[in-house]
Amino acid sequence: MKQPLVLIPGLLCDAALWGPQVAALGDIADVWIPDLRTQSSIREMAEAVLREAPFQRFALAGLSMGGYVAMEIMRRAARRVPRLALLDTRATPDTPEETGRRLELIRLARTERGFTPVTSRMLPLLVHPSRVGDASLVRIIRDMAERTGIDAFVRQQAAIIHRPDSRPDLKAIGCPTLVLCGREDAITALASHEEMARLIPGARLHVVEVCGHLSTLERPEQVNRALRDWLTGSGRKTPVGER
Ligand code: MLT
Repeated sequence: MKQPLVLIPGLLCDAALWGPQVAALGDIADVWIPDLRTQSSIREMAEAVLREAPFQRFALAGLSMGGYVAMEIMRRAARRVPRLALLDTRATPDTPEETGRRLELIRLARTERGFTPVTSRMLPLLVHPSRVGDASLVRIIRDMAERTGIDAFVRQQAAIIHRPDSRPDLKAIGCPTLVLCGREDAITALASHEEMARLIPGARLHVVEVCGHLSTLERPEQVNRALRDWLTGSGRKTPVGER
């Protein structure tokens, strides 16, 4: 029987962020991806997922902002989540410097026409340096941003600015948990994932080599393999890139 699986996208992203996973995991998972363009807080996003998900219980994976939402879901409804995957995310709250950078991006998005300047500024942080010139990858990222739109971008940034410190809640997570990140993630660093994996009982840390923040698109084969192992609970011996 297929497992219900909820995949939560990050800032300025939509279902296309998970395109390779939807294609690769269809034989073992029934996937649902929420639309996070209308809510103004992480709490509202979590409530929308819990209200709108077509499953009562579901494996839950979130990338970046999607991870912030997943941690909020664990606070509110852990009994509905038999498995958790936190990808390229962090449990810490915003620093004043990060908030300042977000406010600057909001100003840019509002004053410029379209998203080109915003995505151009963000791109070197979103993907590994070797992929900044990858036209098809960049196209997917720009298209997701255009579909998200400026108003939703502003709401998502406000939600992210006010996200809570999730670290105190991680020790209460009792389900099998995968923590995964690109080794060169420039937005949510490897150290944040090491911290989450330390705080969540029994969590498994998987590092994807030569990979930035958008691991699902940058290194789909590796991420698909890690998610398949997580979903099927198969206990591989520690492979390269995992510890
Ligand atoms: C995301 O990808 O969701 C964002 O980069 C998260 C953030 O800026 O904190």
